[in-house]
Amino acid sequence: MRVLVVGSGGREHAIAWKISHSKTVSKVFVFPGNGGIDLESRLTRIPSFEPVSKEHIGKLVQENKIDLTIIGPELFLVDGLVDYLQEKGFPVVGPTKQVAALEGSKIFSKRFMRDNGIETADFEVFDNYEKAVDYLKAGRFPIVIKADGLAGGKGVFVAKNQSDALKALQFLMKEKKLGNAGMRVVIEEFMPGFEVSFIILTDGRNIVKFPVCQDYKNLRDSGLGPNTGGMGVHFPLPSLDNNLLSKLEDEIVRPVLRGIENRGHVYKGFLYCGLMVSPGGEVRVLEFNCRLGDPETQLLMLLMKGDLLPLLDNVSREDGFNLSEVPSNFWHQKAGLCLVASADGYPDDVRTGDPIEVDDEIETDPNIKIFHSGTEILDGKLVTNGGRVMAVSGIGENKDLLRHKLLDKIKQIKFEGKHYRKDIGLTEIRGK
Ligand code: AMP
Ligand code: GLY
Repeated sequence: MRVLVVGSGGREHAIAWKISHSKTVSKVFVFPGNGGIDLESRLTRIPSFEPVSKEHIGKLVQENKIDLTIIGPELFLVDGLVDYLQEKGFPVVGPTKQVAALEGSKIFSKRFMRDNGIETADFEVFDNYEKAVDYLKAGRFPIVIKADGLAGGKGVFVAKNQSDALKALQFLMKEKKLGNAGMRVVIEEFMPGFEVSFIILTDGRNIVKFPVCQDYKNLRDSGLGPNTGGMGVHFPLPSLDNNLLSKLEDEIVRPVLRGIENRGHVYKGFLYCGLMVSPGGEVRVLEFNCRLGDPETQLLMLLMKGDLLPLLDNVSREDGFNLSEVPSNFWHQKAGLCLVASADGYPDDVRTGDPIEVDDEIETDPNIKIFHSGTEILDGKLVTNGGRVMAVSGIGENKDLLRHKLLDKIKQIKFEGKHYRKDIGLTEIRGK
């Protein structure tokens, strides 16, 4: 089977790497990929020399005789790439445009949750600046303001007080700094607690639950510094009891699948539930993403023991997959960690073009893997090319030993301005 993975991050590197070990794969292409893909003998990178369009991806699928396309980033999904490829008769994994609105529009997503009885923060929707200001003047703080549309992680403001909240509103609705994405906003109640990432793969009927893990969003140790795309992940989370885990399917996933079906669609692909666990142990949904998480996937692909490709192949078909295809030992019963090395200036003005040296010794351990995100090959040399440069992931019997091992490995990745958190997996993030 010839597979195309669309995207250029660590998530796509991890998916492509995992699939390249499948029994049924013959060739894995990654478009547009990154420097890490160039370095993998099992993967073929198709670099991009022009703006990426649906038409261009369709052409690549045809020219390279692709049997299955897997789409990583939300932008393509929200833009209807799945619909486009399906119309052309090309098998693809991912939700269609109407379904991907669960991530593409916070307003749609919040109303969907309310209509389908899914627990989330109380909210109001505004398309009028003055009305939003009036609401904030009577608001309770902290409060959360969210741009309706996709904003690459820049559209959510947790405001501690009225002045911060009014500034966020001004930024979105008056200065229109995020363009159309911020013209309409959701203002919602602040939920205290700790966040976890719960991801499933579904054909619309059956689901495969991925291990619930935790992404460390702040740049610096102990939850300090600005919010990022994610600086590291750990698994397991001892404070999540089985009782709580069993509720996630009945109270969140099933209502999503039913709600989508009631709208005349089928949810096919990955569903990422960003959850807030309150100090009392109740779970509410922060957000839905219609894709895998990054860096979560960089760990989850290592924790996955079974073959992902046959499942994805079946998800792309009308009749979906059979749960008997998912063996009970589909996941390693091990701890896992992922540590991200970021570039100077991340998450704001990122410096690129710094040469990277990676010690070959790092990956001699089969339980450890480096995935690249912001890297490129320039004149035959590996250089930084993005905020999150690369990450080292590993699995092992003991989380603490693994933590020490990975901290040692990440030291052997060298580039000017490198930054990484040293507390991933050390403490479970609890409360704020
Ligand atoms: P979102 O894109 O909706 O997940 O928001 C980005 C981040 O903002 C989340 O990962 C949380 O850390 C924070 N956040 C969003 N909504 C809330 C909320 N209602 N209460 C507390 N924190 C929130
Ligand atoms: N790591 C957070 C996300 O993928 O949205």
